[in-house]
Amino acid sequence: MMKTLDRARTKRVAALVLLAFALVARTAAPAPAAAKAEKLSPPQGWVAPDRQRAIERAHENVPFVSQVKDECFVCRQQRLRNEGYGIDDITDACFLLDSPIIKKRSDQYMPVRFMHSKHAAALNDCTVCHHLRPADPQGKETSRCVACHRQAFDPRHPDRVGLKAAYHLRCIGCHEQMHKGPVDCLGCHDKNVPDHNRLVELPDHPKPSQVTVECLRCHKRQGREMLKTAHWLWRGNSAYTMGRRKEVQSGKGTNAVNNF
Ligand code: HEC
Ligand code: HEC
Ligand code: HEC
Ligand code: HEC
Ligand code: HEC
Repeated sequence: MMKTLDRARTKRVAALVLLAFALVARTAAPAPAAAKAEKLSPPQGWVAPDRQRAIERAHENVPFVSQVKDECFVCRQQRLRNEGYGIDDITDACFLLDSPIIKKRSDQYMPVRFMHSKHAAALNDCTVCHHLRPADPQGKETSRCVACHRQAFDPRHPDRVGLKAAYHLRCIGCHEQMHKGPVDCLGCHDKNVPDHNRLVELPDHPKPSQVTVECLRCHKRQGREMLKTAHWLWRGNSAYTMGRRKEVQSGKGTNAVNNF
């Protein structure tokens, strides 16, 4: 009798020790996923050096070039080839195209990411984009587009398209021709969506209907469009819905809740 009681007690103690050990082990070891994420994510506010440079380059003040060298396109292409222009002459592997000249008139989108080196490698020809050079011999062979293309309809240079058109014609034109690279707007542009933390004003525990009303304050058009979609208007034979087999016209357009 004593013996079995003893054995039961030792068993219980052993179980308790095991449990305590398991608890300690669990609290001591950090959750592996969280630790890994912390290790992998950059410190707050950190920006990759080439991205930082791209941001600065986007807003640089580039001197205007009024005279271009008179040279036929094929001559220029051949000359640059003979002079050995290639990937090694590229100073910036990527650009963020975010010109203040364009953004002064229209700012619907985030900066356009342009992978310069990747393009140069894929096309193997600098002149398809760098199609002209300044007449000034001191000028750069591969000047930036913004050196020559500025506002549209400049009366002093009616032959030159504005900077935005220069990009759109050249970038989209080639993508269309080669069937490579994006041609639809959102392929190059991310929408410039303002921070909604600061826009949306709601009480601490809002009712669902209050949230809808708040979004509709600014998104009236989207609200009207929603009312015309199948997501809003669906109604129909619910023969396959359990407990509703006899109701022929069930749906948001008729008797469904969540309709405010
Ligand atoms: C697909 C088009 C494209 C190709 C191909 C291309 N570039 Fe560019 N390049 C650009 C654009 C766009 C810019 C930046 C324009 C701006 O900011 O106005 C640029 C800028 C540059 C600049 C910076 C110029 C400055 O004044 O700061 C250099 C240098 C350059 N390119 C060299 C080259 C070389 C060398 C090649 C060929 C090996 C090449 N690029 C091929 C589109 C291209
Ligand atoms: C040295 C000055 C200069 C530079 C740099 C320059 N352009 Fe031009 N661009 C011109 C002039 C001048 C014209 C009008 C005459 C012509 O079409 O040759 C023109 C015309 C254009 C046109 C319309 C005609 C066509 O060929 O379809 C496009 C598009 C264009 N440029 C894109 C660009 C892009 C993109 C860049 C930068 C990679 C660039 N240009 C750099 C001077 C320049
Ligand atoms: C002469 C032809 C040509 C011109 C000009 C050109 N592209 Fe492209 N683009 C390509 C090709 C080819 C690819 C596919 C490259 C690949 O996948 O290796 C591409 C791919 C892309 C992509 C998707 C892949 C990536 O690298 O992110 C983007 C975005 C892009 N281009 C943006 C632009 C912009 C912006 C311009 C104008 C400043 C431009 N392209 C001018 C030929 C061109
Ligand atoms: C191949 C890439 C490409 C495609 C596709 C493209 N764009 Fe752009 N777009 C650009 C570049 C590059 C700029 C110049 C960005 C800068 O310097 O600010 C630009 C500038 C703009 C701007 C002025 C800047 C702004 O934020 O308001 C508007 C508006 C615009 N694009 C509209 C469109 C629309 C609409 C479409 C679709 C029909 C389109 N784009 C397709 C490359 C592209
Ligand atoms: C004070 C005005 C305001 C309020 C309130 C507001 N938004 Fe926005 N929202 C904007 C603006 C401005 C844009 C950018 C332009 C656009 O895409 O129409 C935007 C863009 C968006 C986009 C991105 C659209 C896209 O095409 O990428 C979404 C999603 C969005 N809002 C959802 C909401 C939701 C959900 C609410 C309610 C909780 C809300 N917004 C409340 C002003 C507002």
